Amino acid sequence: MALSLLIAALLAAAHSRASPVPSKPYVCHEFTVDLALDNVTTVVPFLPEIESRYQATHYANIFTTRQDPDCNSTPEIEFTSITKSFTIVGEYCTPSKPGNKANTLHLLTHGLGFDRSYWDFYLPSNKFDTQYSYVHAATAAGYSTLSWNRLGIAPSTIANPYTEVQAPVELALLAQLTTLARSAHPSISGLHTAPTTIIHVGHSWGSFLTQALATSAPSLVDAVVLTGWSTSSAYMSNFISSGTLHLATENQPARFPAATYSNGFLTWPDALANQFAFFAYPHFDPAVLEYAEAQAKQPFTLGEFLSQQALPAADADETKQADSTGPTVYIVASGQDMLFCGGNCTGIVGEDVPETKAAFPNAAELKVDVLDGFGHGLNLHYGADRAYEKIMMWVGEKVE
Ligand SMILES: *[C@@H]1O[C@H](CO)[C@@H](O)[C@H](O)[C@H]1NC(C)=O
Ligand SMILES: *[C@@H]1O[C@H](CO)[C@@H](O)[C@H](O)[C@H]1NC(C)=O
Repeated sequence: MALSLLIAALLAAAHSRASPVPSKPYVCHEFTVDLALDNVTTVVPFLPEIESRYQATHYANIFTTRQDPDCNSTPEIEFTSITKSFTIVGEYCTPSKPGNKANTLHLLTHGLGFDRSYWDFYLPSNKFDTQYSYVHAATAAGYSTLSWNRLGIAPSTIANPYTEVQAPVELALLAQLTTLARSAHPSISGLHTAPTTIIHVGHSWGSFLTQALATSAPSLVDAVVLTGWSTSSAYMSNFISSGTLHLATENQPARFPAATYSNGFLTWPDALANQFAFFAYPHFDPAVLEYAEAQAKQPFTLGEFLSQQALPAADADETKQADSTGPTVYIVASGQDMLFCGGNCTGIVGEDVPETKAAFPNAAELKVDVLDGFGHGLNLHYGADRAYEKIMMWVGEKVE
């Protein structure tokens, strides 16, 4: 008797010493889907496959070489097509206690150099700091989210980085994923009710894909949020010049083994190159930068560079589309974005900037905010939840 009392007392003491562990206020289900592409138009790579680290960096020279504005030296693009299945892995998250708003789905597409963890980012050393997590903010506001690892980002298929991991292929996969989500297809674990509304949210390359989906398949898109985006390609060379196209297999061989990743998978060299492209000093925690570089970064591909121009662009002839009403659009630009704005997005993206309006000629409504204190990788800065709060308010007012 005495012994069992002692044990009970010890157990009680052990319990009271354990710090309370707050559980996440949302539940996530990982899903794996095979998506079959039928005759999707792709680009024939106009540069040979990469033979060596030296040739990779030489390609960085090619992409940043001065161009005579009067003479278009871009090679003529040849097209081919692809019919093939790819595996895509994603994650569906809902509030722990879902209400009506949980039928509004945020479909999140990440940019180059990341995977879907960009949308649900936590430092391992501070797992309860929710300021970086878009998924936390969206589910706290009552919504559901679907994030996915784009093609070429494990555990989605590590496809051919020249001919397959290309913009039009990723666009076709985004369209299929959206169609599955719209019908609450059983392959998307946890999603049991067809969403009433889908908001496509992109970052950077993911914003290009999102914009292209809104242009090419408007019936799939209700509303659009673009981050890390502008219409200017004038500063893109900042990304290539600072990153100088390193082979992913040489840069982080343990994470990107040569048995799986060929020379077509590329990255930037180190944390400071990452900072230059994605972070605005002093608006970030160095521990976030170091973690993003060592554990979170993912390669991009040569095929992505060679195929971006093949994405459908908005039809400049507005009258042609005058009958159709496009999505409601919210653009949240990072004030200090080096890659899309040369470090200052004011005047490059805006509600009164003609190029911004031309990108969405039939937007039902277009709102733009340029947020000071953020570099290109918006979600990884201090107070990223300030941006999320604005997005959730906009969704509440304009979309629901
Ligand atoms: C594939 O698409 C192209 C262009 O849209 C078309 O010309 C071709 O006939 C298609 N091929 C097949 C096998 O459907
Ligand atoms: C950013 O650009 C705008 C418009 O050109 C200019 O008015 C502003 O001074 C610039 N900001 C900084 C910090 O240079």
